[in-house]
Amino acid sequence: MNETRYALITGASRGIGRAIALKLAAQGFSVIINYASNEEAARKTLDDITANGGKAELLPFDVSDNKATAAAIESWQAHHEGEYISVVVNNAGIRKDNLMMWMPEEEWHRVLRISLDGFFNVTQPLLTSMLVKKWGRIVNIASLSGIKGMPGQANYSAAKGGLIAATKALAQEVAKKRVTVNAVAPGFIKSDMTADLNEAELKRLIPAGRFGEAEEVAELVAFLVSDAAAYITGEVISINGGIYT
Ligand SMILES: NC(=O)c1ccc[n+]([C@@H]2O[C@H](COP(=O)([O-])OP(=O)(O)OC[C@H]3O[C@@H](n4cnc5c(N)ncnc54)[C@H](OP(=O)(O)O)[C@@H]3O)[C@@H](O)[C@H]2O)c1
Repeated sequence: MNETRYALITGASRGIGRAIALKLAAQGFSVIINYASNEEAARKTLDDITANGGKAELLPFDVSDNKATAAAIESWQAHHEGEYISVVVNNAGIRKDNLMMWMPEEEWHRVLRISLDGFFNVTQPLLTSMLVKKWGRIVNIASLSGIKGMPGQANYSAAKGGLIAATKALAQEVAKKRVTVNAVAPGFIKSDMTADLNEAELKRLIPAGRFGEAEEVAELVAFLVSDAAAYITGEVISINGGIYT
């Protein structure tokens, strides 16, 4: 990489997003760490990157808030004249599991607003620069749930399924301009999000016999944002230890 490439990772304070931030910084990207509220964890990601000689900065905003997201991206642009964000990893997400018969409307909307509206809110303002500069990488962190549907996760499955469909549509819109759009669909990955799950029981369903590590997802994302992955677009790549979907 000759010029500095900026990579915005949403939800990079913890878990999978943090691992992606560390990996992309090690690959030479200047990383923009987004998070919602956990400043302490975000600073830890930043410090770990800079301690390893990488470049990073913090950019907190709630991805579900269209105006706040637009304002944060505009402010970044104002401070980085002549530069553009060429990589975005839409990773921010939450779970609010409930059987649909008991699901309050707010739980339905909150999950969709973060994973699905968040993808639109963050990606839409970044597209023009990627198209003008004729290079961009968009990676959306979906889920096994968005492919097969999981009971107790009608909201989450809908959000991730919608994200997969949007990935395929957008990939076709921007392919000619050397912008790729792909989705990564993890199965069970160790993080705060899965800390409440019964790993001993669930791992019996996984051919690999274990939960995945956030760093394993980060390896895949690092390949998808590299120059080497230029001809892969509109794909959904599962990383789930062999759970058949
Ligand atoms: N772990 C798994 O097994 C698994 C499987 C499939 C898919 N995924 C997907 O992978 C992604 C990361 O999951 P994870 O396991 O790493 O989760 P996690 O450990 O709970 O971390 C979630 C991250 O998202 C951020 N976030 C939450 N709401 C946000 C908002 N409104 N705006 C901006 N950032 C927000 C959090 O920021 P704060 O620290 O500020 O709260 C945090 O950095 C999610 O999209 C999840 O759905 C995870």
